[in-house]
Amino acid sequence: MEGTSLTETEEDFQAEETQSYGRVGVTFGDVGTTSLKFNVAASVDKGEYVQVSHPDIGWVLGQIDNIERQSDLSVEKARELNEGNQVDIDDTVIAKVNIIGYRDDNGLLRVPGNPFRAGEPIYLAEEELIREVLGLKESKEGAYIGKLRGHDIKVSMNINTIAQKHLSVLAKTGSGKSYTTGVIIEEMLKNDVTMVILDPHGEYNSLAKAGNPKNTEEFDIEPRGYGEKLTEFSPDPEINQGARPLRFTFRNMATKDILEMCGLNKRRSYVTSLENAKSKLAVKKGEFGIEDVINLLKGNEEDNSTTLVKGLERLKEKKIFAGKGTRIDEIVSEGKASIVNFKGTPPDMRGFIVDKLANSIFELRKRNKIPPLIMFAEEAHNFCPQRGKVQCSEIFKTIASEGRKFGLGLGIITQRPAKVDKNVLSQCNTQVLLKVTNPNDLKAIEKSVEGMTKGMKEEIKRLPVGEAILSGAGLSEPLLVQVRPRQTKDGGESIRVI
Ligand SMILES: Nc1ncnc2c1ncn2[C@@H]1O[C@H](COP(=O)(O)OP(=O)(O)O)[C@@H](O)[C@H]1O
Ligand SMILES: [Mg+2]
Repeated sequence: MEGTSLTETEEDFQAEETQSYGRVGVTFGDVGTTSLKFNVAASVDKGEYVQVSHPDIGWVLGQIDNIERQSDLSVEKARELNEGNQVDIDDTVIAKVNIIGYRDDNGLLRVPGNPFRAGEPIYLAEEELIREVLGLKESKEGAYIGKLRGHDIKVSMNINTIAQKHLSVLAKTGSGKSYTTGVIIEEMLKNDVTMVILDPHGEYNSLAKAGNPKNTEEFDIEPRGYGEKLTEFSPDPEINQGARPLRFTFRNMATKDILEMCGLNKRRSYVTSLENAKSKLAVKKGEFGIEDVINLLKGNEEDNSTTLVKGLERLKEKKIFAGKGTRIDEIVSEGKASIVNFKGTPPDMRGFIVDKLANSIFELRKRNKIPPLIMFAEEAHNFCPQRGKVQCSEIFKTIASEGRKFGLGLGIITQRPAKVDKNVLSQCNTQVLLKVTNPNDLKAIEKSVEGMTKGMKEEIKRLPVGEAILSGAGLSEPLLVQVRPRQTKDGGESIRVI
């Protein structure tokens, strides 16, 4: 270790700053097994990894959780300073380290059973030790998200764990949720993971095109488009040119659902008329569409038929029905991803469509008729809100709690974690956290993330765009990561007004 040849003068420590694995201080005071303090004698930052030798074990990894300057400057002396008088200030910078641990002979992460020694030097951790203790070895099942902040160490999350234990991407608007989700989806596409992406704003079809990323060498990535693995569907293919129409078979729709979509008051009073019309047509024509029902009802004498016809005509305008709807096995296709682009679709219709789609996917997955998959929901607070109910609220709760049994993973993306159903959010055991400042959202996050230190809670409020805290998915503890550049075109780039 380079540090051993150092003398303990300030000058030497300052010269040391430019070296990568230098000595940064010495432990003092009461020393524990899971935390310790050291006097800071070189420039170090909160969050940095350090190593300290334990008498029985050897090198153990820790992380600086807090740094504080302690001084003997009293209020009286401060007042004197204020009046322009000379005052001597004696101060020391002290850092608190959380011990992460070491790998035992079986490769298990452990913390020492007895304390470290006081007077033990603290060094910036070597990359090899960080990799080993944090378990950051490259693996085939890994989704490469970025690099450990300040280090040349790739961080990957286990794809199977993401799918089995559900994922959430949480951050305020503009802090990189869609960008980072794009990175995750690229990794999934690379590994032939089957996906459905619910995309309210049409941001994800850019995954088809190669982007023009910076820092490709530093992050070891190449621009690439995934067009051959992506299909875009939309209820409104006129607005979303190039998307295949997403349609439902009218005949298979429950009467209750049709009436709900028609937006009629006193829905019960129309049940009989609609049911009768549907059964007549079923006998006569076998296959029938919404226009057949309208035509049949137009000839009806009953007085409430006019209102029902008007409702059905409005519904017909929304063009979500066809004689033959889109097949679920077209949307869920092994090793490929389908984007359902809802740009231009009104929110109530969207909720309805997602309800039908998610229910069908869940049912078919239960019966193993479609491959295991992950369903991503961007702006998830609209699909499974904490307050109030939308059409697809229930199915989101069901997938969150039972999906893992049937190989149906969920990816929740939202800028308002506090507004997402807690039953859903608490089931997402893999988290990607970007900058969050709203206190209610922070509370919701704290409740759902395990092993988050006090330092990290503070850090979330200050994360710059491009940095994320990753937790779960095979990581031994939450990590601060510089998200890698996108291979594909970034679909969420801000629109310039001038
Ligand atoms: N890791 C990153 N590297 C470079 N630019 C990024 C990164 N993350 C986000 N951005 C940029 O920041 C802006 C906001 O990102 P976006 O993903 O749209 O945020 P959100 O979905 O949270 O509102 C976009 O212009 C995007 O290109
Ligand atoms: Mg976004």
